[in-house]
Amino acid sequence: MKFHITTFGCQMNVHDSEWLTRALESRGWEEADENEAQIYVVNTCSVRDKPEQKVYSELGRIAAHLKRDENIFAAVGGCVAQQIGQGFFKRFPFVKLVFGSDGITNAPNALERIAEGAEDRVALLDFVSIYEERENPEERTVSIPETRQAFVNIMQGCDNFCSYCIVPYTRGRQKSRHPQAVVDECRALVESGIREITLLGQNVNSFGMDKGGVGVSFADLLKKVSGIDGLDRLRFTTSHPKDIEPEVIAAFGELENLCPSLHLPLQSGSDNVLKAMRRKYTQARYLSIVDGLKKARPDIVLTTDLIVGFPGETEDDFQQTLDMVERVGFESSFSFKYSDRPGVASLNMEPKVDPVVASERLMRLQTLQNNITRNCLKNLEGLETEVFIEGLSRKQDGDNTSWKGRDPAGRIVNTEMDESEGMVGLMVPVRITEAKKHSLNGERTGKPW
Ligand code: SAH
Ligand code: SF4
Ligand code: F3S
Repeated sequence: MKFHITTFGCQMNVHDSEWLTRALESRGWEEADENEAQIYVVNTCSVRDKPEQKVYSELGRIAAHLKRDENIFAAVGGCVAQQIGQGFFKRFPFVKLVFGSDGITNAPNALERIAEGAEDRVALLDFVSIYEERENPEERTVSIPETRQAFVNIMQGCDNFCSYCIVPYTRGRQKSRHPQAVVDECRALVESGIREITLLGQNVNSFGMDKGGVGVSFADLLKKVSGIDGLDRLRFTTSHPKDIEPEVIAAFGELENLCPSLHLPLQSGSDNVLKAMRRKYTQARYLSIVDGLKKARPDIVLTTDLIVGFPGETEDDFQQTLDMVERVGFESSFSFKYSDRPGVASLNMEPKVDPVVASERLMRLQTLQNNITRNCLKNLEGLETEVFIEGLSRKQDGDNTSWKGRDPAGRIVNTEMDESEGMVGLMVPVRITEAKKHSLNGERTGKPW
């Protein structure tokens, strides 16, 4: 069978799709181009209206392939699948499987049964209450990615119910994975050649605080994974400021392979808005976390998520967001216009911000951010660092080959080298020579390893 997976949404979805690919390949199926596939999987995101709409246009595109082969069918997974459920069967008759984020564990078997004709339509939409181990997570040791980087799930779901957010409804309650399973998977990955691991969860700082917890905190877990011999870089995402423990802050100064970068979503700089968002921290608390982080690791790079135009946001509230962005000096940020989502608490909050005002705020915020980003990058010129090579650079205009990689903080660095192949997965000592708008150029100063 030839299958094609399209993925929208966050890193958790990307990771889920990677797992699904491996699980289907282990059944002898083959990943194929969009024009050759017999089975299409769309892994969906529902966090704002725009990504949700993309799902319907993607299904429209898939429908056009039915002309080529009427036996083609599709599966819809992820957050929109959880939200709309069996509604997809009615609207798109060629959709034969819907699966949510917990249901994905059984998706490979369901796809197989449908392909064999043993079943017509399957809905895997139940939530589980304990983290379910997926089949053979260590199977990927057979063929590790050339980049030698891997994501490892440490939890599913979210219990925070921020008032604007659909995730707790689409991903269900927080379920921590057993810490031993996390450590075993990480160790197996490192033994097979992985050099960089990113621990994944919607809210990693509250790891262990649910039923699946066995007394191991996120700080404990970080230490265990960090201690695996041969692991060069460790990252984690996403963090919620309310749950970050002092031990996690301290870890940035203690664990050598823990990368000096943290994505710490602020959402808004105004205490009034933060309260309405149910974020459970204030501007002052956020700033004290930032202070702690900078003390523990002076070169730490902070990035964030911001929402503008939350219901009731005034010009003064927005100004406080701008002030915070400046004060913290986020090196980059993702900023979004507030989007009403079905079933969330903010749906009924008033007054809604005029979309024209929200767009204008977004533009002001992004202009400020671009200036800060530019200054941060400019300050790095001349710095000696180490770049983990991920592939060829997009632009190849010099005499030598330009390689793209990331410094320990995750910034993209392009470096020209004599080698035209074989550099992916190597660390290269580099001096930063030039700051571009969103990336850096560097020159090699030593031997790759
Ligand atoms: N669990 C992560 C974020 C998940 S969603 C966290 O708490 O940090 C990613 C980002 O989408 C959020 O940080 C938020 O900035 C944005 N987002 C979520 N719901 C939104 C909505 N209804 N409108 C606009 N942006 C939203
Ligand atoms: Fe959504 Fe808040 Fe949970 Fe993040 S912490 S996934 S923003 S409810
Ligand atoms: Fe989107 Fe679901 Fe991730 S809504 S951001 S795919 S958790």
